[in-house]
Amino acid sequence: MIVLKTPEQIERIRKSCRILVDTFRRAEELLKPGVKTSEIDAAVEEYVRSRGAVPAFKGYRGYPASVCISVDEVVLHGIPGDLVLEEGQIVTLDMGVILDGYYSDAAKTYAIGEVSEEKQRLMDAAKAALMKAIEVAREGNRIGDIAHAIQRTAEGRGFSVVRQFCGHGIGRNLHEEPEVPNFGRPHTGARLRRGMTLAIETMVNAGTPEVEIASDGWTVYTKDRRPAAHFEHTIAVTDGEADILTLGL
Ligand code: MF3
Ligand code: CO
Repeated sequence: MIVLKTPEQIERIRKSCRILVDTFRRAEELLKPGVKTSEIDAAVEEYVRSRGAVPAFKGYRGYPASVCISVDEVVLHGIPGDLVLEEGQIVTLDMGVILDGYYSDAAKTYAIGEVSEEKQRLMDAAKAALMKAIEVAREGNRIGDIAHAIQRTAEGRGFSVVRQFCGHGIGRNLHEEPEVPNFGRPHTGARLRRGMTLAIETMVNAGTPEVEIASDGWTVYTKDRRPAAHFEHTIAVTDGEADILTLGL
């Protein structure tokens, strides 16, 4: 079942999203060569709690941290730890918070210093795919229109889209219906209605779309170990342009 939100509920989700955007600002201060990913996680958790919110991922299905930190060939769900960031890497921060029972969820891939031209183009493609997806996320269109926009934009730039993971509805839960795939055909799937709140996420690989999950049960790698990029916004569907609740990311 797809839960439609009232304007009041959307304002609550927006408040959660605002804290999340501020948390990205805080984490960005630490994104430099030499930082340990566990230090970023600790700073994120402290900041979120200082704002009266709760890290949404910590303890979710047993996930052990407040942020997913995914470096280079890690597509998703990298667990913070002893890894030290280095110049030339691309690093995705994926985080969510809960404020008064309402969830927010967003992701962004960052360059650490100078990165290769391919990594830069990959990040640009994943970002562009998300913005194209948001452009078609309006009442009357369908989930397949969003999915197709992501696929067309990423593949049109010579990259591939992940199939095993999807964006999702969001609200009183981190993951609600509908699923929002990164691939699909236009004019298919659930019809978009005003009041739907969606976490649209683009997961774009430089090489093969195939991924594999590490023995820790979380870390998702590209099968060919070429790099991946990931962007995500929480949005509300309206009868016009989508309302980007995580604006400013
Ligand atoms: N943005 C991701 C998602 O929607 C992050 C979830 S990580 C988890 O699946 F730890 F919370 F599972
Ligand atoms: Co998500």
